[in-house]
Amino acid sequence: MFFDDRRRFLRQAANAGMAWGLTSLFGGSFLRGQTAPGSGDIARVYLDSRRIMAPLDHNLFGSFLEHLGRAIYEGIFDPGSKLSDASGFRKDVMEEVRRMGVPIIRYPGGNFVSGYNWLDGVGPKETRPRVLDKAWNSINTNQFGTNEFMAWCKAVHAEPLMGLNLGTGTPEEAAALVEYCNLDQGTKWSDLRRKHGITEPYRVKHWCLGNEMDGPWQIGHMTATEYGIKAQDAARQMRYVDPSLQLIACGSSGPFMPTYLEWDREVLEQCYEYVDGLSLHRYFTNTPQDTGGDSAKFLAMNLSMERQIDETVAVCDLVRGHKRSPKKLWLSFDEWNVWYRARSGDATNGHHQEAPHLLEEVYNLEDALLVGGLVNSLLRHADRVKVACLAQLINVIAPIMTNANGLFRQTIYYPYNWGLQYARGSVLNLLVESPTYEVSNMGQVPSVDVAGTLNPQDGKVALFILNRELSKPRVVELNWQDKTPGQVLVSTTLTGADLKAFNTFETPEKVAPQAFAKPATTNNRTRFEVPPRSYTAIQWSA
Ligand code: AHR
Repeated sequence: MFFDDRRRFLRQAANAGMAWGLTSLFGGSFLRGQTAPGSGDIARVYLDSRRIMAPLDHNLFGSFLEHLGRAIYEGIFDPGSKLSDASGFRKDVMEEVRRMGVPIIRYPGGNFVSGYNWLDGVGPKETRPRVLDKAWNSINTNQFGTNEFMAWCKAVHAEPLMGLNLGTGTPEEAAALVEYCNLDQGTKWSDLRRKHGITEPYRVKHWCLGNEMDGPWQIGHMTATEYGIKAQDAARQMRYVDPSLQLIACGSSGPFMPTYLEWDREVLEQCYEYVDGLSLHRYFTNTPQDTGGDSAKFLAMNLSMERQIDETVAVCDLVRGHKRSPKKLWLSFDEWNVWYRARSGDATNGHHQEAPHLLEEVYNLEDALLVGGLVNSLLRHADRVKVACLAQLINVIAPIMTNANGLFRQTIYYPYNWGLQYARGSVLNLLVESPTYEVSNMGQVPSVDVAGTLNPQDGKVALFILNRELSKPRVVELNWQDKTPGQVLVSTTLTGADLKAFNTFETPEKVAPQAFAKPATTNNRTRFEVPPRSYTAIQWSA
């Protein structure tokens, strides 16, 4: 059965990761350009509003909802629930997502999309088929489909990032979905949408051409050249329908793949001129194989995400050179998170159930700290990464968990939400001088990881500070080079004595942000001490 093939591959890959993990995944120096080893125990940060790395695309803080487990059914759509509205949408979940302001949400998969027929999910609900989703061995009743997703996105003020089936699906079916969604009227598929009661076209801008097509676990898996040709054909047909689309080709599933980077190169050789972006995926683990269960190493893993971005950018630009193309691709890091506990057995097998409990990873404090580091890494690469999706949003490897009576926030909610709330405008090119510590097979890693933004519209500055030290507080000194900050508007930290602490319905605030003393500024210098094992957000007015 296909499902077992996928599990077998992941197991083999995990074993292989043991060997690659120590060299290719983690090896090399992790002191980046703007980070230098500092002298002494103080971390010094130099901020200059004239040194801007890139304008920040808010889509860097997107998320993802797959037809998987309880993400859609029971998660956002639960018609029988006392907490749902007339459309069956959970009101408490909508309110939370609206409050967070998630800008863009990828749907409907993930592995699911590669066997999905979008026509099963539109039209009168009573005629929609119950389908066996072979990716997760679950039943999809199809009561929630494209039109329900669009209505939900509108309600939470998010833009849809639509995934297309390039596994069992054809380029013609992909173009038909674009026509269904984006054309006004007078054609077969736009008129079908109107017949389904939707007059206004959705004008969906961003589309993913397939999902993880390099993975032998993927339905319709193919070689890079085959996929590149199919993606080119799909892109051409889709643009005949709507030339304004932004299209994302499917990049490698991650550095653990034997075809990592070579897949990306071969794909782009076929479709570079037809797409705008390339996807990356990455899930971080704190396993005996990958980190030896060493939290100090785990907290440095965001640096390995940066390496993956740098290497993928290099491949994009190599193909650009081959093609003599004026166009530079951007990256869509459309799946990223920590995920390693709920990753096999019954946690990934739906046993032909509707809304089974799949991938319900429980996140602890150290996971949240790494997610903070990953937010910092994405910010530092905002020059090329224009879209990124925390995978996923509700119940499935998610910051928000629901049951019949309500919801609670997992630990990873907080750093992600701070990025959403406070990172605005442009990413600052900070110079950070930090003390370092030794990590096996990684060399010297900065203790303090800092990223920041400046909003030219209102002058607000936000800094995000990860202290990776497990037992030492660190003094941070900010040196304001060309401007004095205004008052501190936000000062909050996530920390705790127990790195393994987590939240539940019974104890939803075990790991929650704490007020952090507002730091004072004198003579263009701000000094404060961040606790060990902490992620801190501070925002200043102009
Ligand atoms: O997000 C969970 C799964 O992880 C997705 O379906 C797939 O794309 C990835 O392997």
